[in-house]
Amino acid sequence: MANRMILNETSYFGKGAIQEIVPEIARRGFKKVVVVTDKDLIKFGVATKVTDLLKAANVDFTIYDGIVPNPTIQNVKDGVAFVKSAGADALVAIGGGSPQDTAKAIGIIIANPEFSDVLSLEGVAETKNPSLPILAVPTTSGTAAEVTINYVITDAEHHRKFVCVDPHDIPLVAFVDSDMMMGMPAKLAASTGMDAMTHAIEGYITPGAWEMSDMLHIKAIEIIGKSLEASVKGDQKAREEMALGQYIAGMGFSNVGLGLVHGMAHPLSAWYNIPHGVACASLLPTIMKYNKEYTGEKYRNIAVALNIPGAKEMTIEEAREAACGEIDRLSKSVGIPATISELGVKESDMAAIAEDALKDVCTPGNPRETSVPEIIALYKSLL
Ligand SMILES: NC(=O)c1ccc[n+]([C@@H]2O[C@H](COP(=O)([O-])OP(=O)(O)OC[C@H]3O[C@@H](n4cnc5c(N)ncnc54)[C@H](O)[C@@H]3O)[C@@H](O)[C@H]2O)c1
Ligand SMILES: [Fe+2]
Repeated sequence: MANRMILNETSYFGKGAIQEIVPEIARRGFKKVVVVTDKDLIKFGVATKVTDLLKAANVDFTIYDGIVPNPTIQNVKDGVAFVKSAGADALVAIGGGSPQDTAKAIGIIIANPEFSDVLSLEGVAETKNPSLPILAVPTTSGTAAEVTINYVITDAEHHRKFVCVDPHDIPLVAFVDSDMMMGMPAKLAASTGMDAMTHAIEGYITPGAWEMSDMLHIKAIEIIGKSLEASVKGDQKAREEMALGQYIAGMGFSNVGLGLVHGMAHPLSAWYNIPHGVACASLLPTIMKYNKEYTGEKYRNIAVALNIPGAKEMTIEEAREAACGEIDRLSKSVGIPATISELGVKESDMAAIAEDALKDVCTPGNPRETSVPEIIALYKSLL
């Protein structure tokens, strides 16, 4: 089967990239836009960096800011009603993965009314029309949702996070501007940065990986490995590098899929409302070790990308140990909890959570085949 690569139609990078939003709106002839964001991003003056530009240029816009982290079905329903009543012809999504993903669900439903129930879009849905055009401005580094063909919504009533995969949802234009990420508190920079590292590693070792996705993932591992700790400390240059590193990871994983870390992280967020990045980061070192015999030479390449001295000359076993050890060290160094009991996960829920993890759309992308008993054992080892 041919390898497929889907990316934004246009993307802008670097400090000041948001200056391109107004010209893009004008060039594309959009008459009315809805800004999709969350209340904290308005309160902390992050989304306002963009809305100030829209105001100054007399762009006709309104704001839907009802989105919560781990966005819900209700967020999507409210957003669809809001955008319909506004009569918008485009969306400007400002935020981390939560506003980006909600904007995608809203845009897909408006363009494909036969899928009015977002649950009907779970997995791969055969939508006919591209989403209402989305101009995406990420504020975390991050999910890379601005360049992926996925969105993740929470069914709060049933403790379930579900992934929708649809090439029609990809934002038309992405504005990857590190100025929008400068205000991230250290904890958010750490957890979203480890999410990006997880994307790069899972995308690199998934069976569907190929030369082009490998090239993207290994570069992302190199950039994130080099910059994450300084970015967490607030270093400006490192935040700029992280903005790019997370996007490059997104270019890759969106096209080849992820693995068991994401499969096991989604139920943790659905059951306990744990932030996505924290859930992934707390699992990554353990699942890396679990997968290590199923990765050929790839952990050596990861060790080289992470700048581990002598990695090229090590035996493959040593190189695998070194790669896992460095990710473990990095995770601890940026303050990721070493156990999931610290995050409120209960042993009594474990069997049900493991069932959800096995069914998750990301799990089949893992290089090592797994099972409910093995997933339970992995969770338990982290309690
Ligand atoms: N679509 C995809 O491909 C994809 C990939 C990975 C994760 N996700 C999903 O994305 C969601 C997580 O997104 P996230 O980790 O980016 O966080 P988020 O969007 O949930 O935001 C978390 C919190 O950080 C705040 N915040 C965001 N940017 C900030 C900034 N610059 N300054 C200060 N505060 C800021 C927000 O207001 C919010 O309170 C999850 O639902 C996850 O499942 C999607
Ligand atoms: Fe993720």
